[in-house]
Amino acid sequence: TASSASPHGAHRILVASNRGPVSYEVREDGSLQARRGGGGLVSGLSAIGPDAGALWVCSALGEGDREAVRRGVGEDGVRMLDIDAAVHADAYNGIANSVLWFVHHMLYQTPLEPVFDQEFRRQWSSYEDYNRAFARALADEAAEGAVVIVQDYHLTLVPGMLRELRPDLRIGHFSHTPWAPVDYFRMLPDDIAGQVLRGMLGADRLGFLTHRWANAFTACCEALVGGLGDTRVGVHGLGADADFLRGRSHEADVAERMDALREQIGEGPDGRARRAIVRVDRTELSKNIVRGLLAYRQLLEDRPEWRERVVHVAFAYPSRQDLAVYRDYTAAVQTLADEINSQYAKPGWTPVVLHVKDDFARSLAAYRLADVALVNPIRDGMNLVAKEVPVVSDEGCVLVLSREAGAYEELGEDAVTVNPYDVVGTAQALHEALSLSAGERAERTKRLAAAATALPPAQWFLEQLRALEE
Ligand code: G6P
Repeated sequence: TASSASPHGAHRILVASNRGPVSYEVREDGSLQARRGGGGLVSGLSAIGPDAGALWVCSALGEGDREAVRRGVGEDGVRMLDIDAAVHADAYNGIANSVLWFVHHMLYQTPLEPVFDQEFRRQWSSYEDYNRAFARALADEAAEGAVVIVQDYHLTLVPGMLRELRPDLRIGHFSHTPWAPVDYFRMLPDDIAGQVLRGMLGADRLGFLTHRWANAFTACCEALVGGLGDTRVGVHGLGADADFLRGRSHEADVAERMDALREQIGEGPDGRARRAIVRVDRTELSKNIVRGLLAYRQLLEDRPEWRERVVHVAFAYPSRQDLAVYRDYTAAVQTLADEINSQYAKPGWTPVVLHVKDDFARSLAAYRLADVALVNPIRDGMNLVAKEVPVVSDEGCVLVLSREAGAYEELGEDAVTVNPYDVVGTAQALHEALSLSAGERAERTKRLAAAATALPPAQWFLEQLRALEE
């Protein structure tokens, strides 16, 4: 019976992340509409099957999620935490996305940023509360000796807090972002930097996407808290989900969107389909969309032979719009795209086709017909677009890839690589990519697809579980 069982919860495998696998919206008639998300963790967890007793602990994000928690609506295997909205806003917008994200992606712009003032200290204490709420929920739900894998920069303090509450658990943490170099990381106030590192070191094992990020973390620990202690560090380079992508990209809605895109891309003066330089991103400062557009403009400027023969298909989906700097960035992308179009457009040729409404089927359509994929982040944990395009591409696509993306570690050899700050160099790389022969393009795409799928989400997740159980 329940009373004679262990005093702990029932779950053997738990994951924790800010954003969960499902979200809710309140419909006009007051009912709740559930929307399932995608991503590596969702397909990774499905690898262990519904009977494994897994639980995903996440945060209620919008009003719909909060309403779902209030009404007791939810899915098996998911527990949403209804953390006070103001605490969540401080922790998520204030600390996670405006401080820790900025540190790891090196996004601050002096002389105005960063300023760690009294307001930051107040938000930090919300971040602590937010992390504590997760630690308590996990402590509550985990069976004796269960495995818990905590995700990302939102929850750096959880491993340490959970270790104190439940020393019997095996605790992992996985970072989906880069880790900052020590000289940049120690911009954080000393006590806060120490708290983040010690919080993470509460885990038995820490996972990173690349050796570069794992080494940066280790260097921070050596410089600031006397080393890693007993915590192990491992690298698991999340790959693309080939089976899912190949199946999904051949559904009817994707074919429809390909037709629509072909229409927008059109034919050049020679009567042949124009080349498509495709990018697909969240509108995210680290994705470097503005410099990508500047590089495209430079290409049209330097190489007039491409005018009317190429189109830049840019999908920039809204992200983190609560933050003014993201709203401004979104506007800057739109303004520059308009500027390029008014400067170069000719009847029947729109040089930049910008879409901002998130549409996964349309992203896949663009992947399938892209001639060149532009992935030029100034810094990126992995970048899955770089891995998905070669898997889905119909006739081969040249990848123009930033050397600052995590994916560079695995894909660098068969991509045309760029320094993301170098706009002239990126324009040159786009020209090179457009000029590669069809044979070379197909060969490279094949090798890229093989490297991109080396560690599919299911294995990526199982590998971490196994390593923690050792
Ligand atoms: C990155 C982070 C994820 C996050 C995602 C979307 O990939 O590593 O943890 O969920 O961005 O960001 P958002 O703030 O919308 O959850």
